[in-house]
Amino acid sequence: MKKPKLYYPVHTLDNRLLLPAGKLLTPEALDELIATSKGASYKAISFLEYGTVYQDILRIIRKPPYDKIFQKLNKKVTMILMKKIRFIEPVLEFLDYFKKYDFYTYRHLLVVFAMAINLARDLLEKPEDWITALMAGTMHDFGKVCVPLEVLQKNEPLSRSERGILEHHTLAGYVILSYFLQNHQSFAAQVAKEHHERKDGSGYPLGISLKDRMIEIIAACDVYDALLSPRPYRPTPYDNRTALEEITEMAKKGKLSWEVVQTLISHNRKDRPDFRECEVSTEKRGKPPADNIYGVIVDKEMKCPNCHSSSIKKKTPIKAREQISYECRGCGKEFDEDDLMNLEMEKH
Ligand SMILES: [Fe+2]
Ligand SMILES: [Fe+2]
Repeated sequence: MKKPKLYYPVHTLDNRLLLPAGKLLTPEALDELIATSKGASYKAISFLEYGTVYQDILRIIRKPPYDKIFQKLNKKVTMILMKKIRFIEPVLEFLDYFKKYDFYTYRHLLVVFAMAINLARDLLEKPEDWITALMAGTMHDFGKVCVPLEVLQKNEPLSRSERGILEHHTLAGYVILSYFLQNHQSFAAQVAKEHHERKDGSGYPLGISLKDRMIEIIAACDVYDALLSPRPYRPTPYDNRTALEEITEMAKKGKLSWEVVQTLISHNRKDRPDFRECEVSTEKRGKPPADNIYGVIVDKEMKCPNCHSSSIKKKTPIKAREQISYECRGCGKEFDEDDLMNLEMEKH
């Protein structure tokens, strides 16, 4: 298993360095960081009363395809549960950042939270036991503040090192939330770290197998909403049917929880069957958008960090998700993806 190590510095919105590149994220390192914030107390503010959050959520869930999921009663109960939630000021400031600089992420954070509440109502008992934990849905992508906007909003295929920088938002979010929530074991910090992990261990950043039901809920909502949204790398979103087929396929392969996907599908049915009785069709009738370049990686500009020669020979990893290493044709030195990622970060 990979070690959780930072490949770029993690900072706050006002550019205060939290941890430098190269830091191994051990519990001790995080405790040391948290100790620097001990004593700081933050004001808690009602989530729905903050800025335009209330209007923004309503505007999004009224529109197709979300209106199908958030039918009358669902919408009402979701809003009632959200009303109970209060966030500390720094958390709300992160939402402001995304609203201003990356509206897609802002919208996505609100939707994932609302959707996760909906699914949790079916899959878990007593909202008072899980509603606070599910606030994590709103914070899962906070680490993207450390991803340069040129990478986050690039509408061409990413290079391998840019892809690495993007995927690293998981560990950056883990550090940021550990710091502000003053606990690296807080659920929100765990979700930031693990929401791209998969049940079969094929995810990132560590390739661990996802087991926690609530993280499974957020992970499924995350994939589903990403498919339904226009993105820089895919201007045309997936239609609802194709998006549901896509996540069904992921559940079939053991990447997402079958029950969670079944619940998402039952929420899309008019008669709202109980998720346990919701039959899932495995027939593929949908058509993914043709202009989708998600996951396409170009290996152009593989410059050697040592001699800057532009051609580097690739060495195939033995197992999936194992580090790919390279050998420079110029100076013969060996490098791995982390070295190339560091080089890429220096450019921004
Ligand atoms: Fe993410
Ligand atoms: Fe996300």
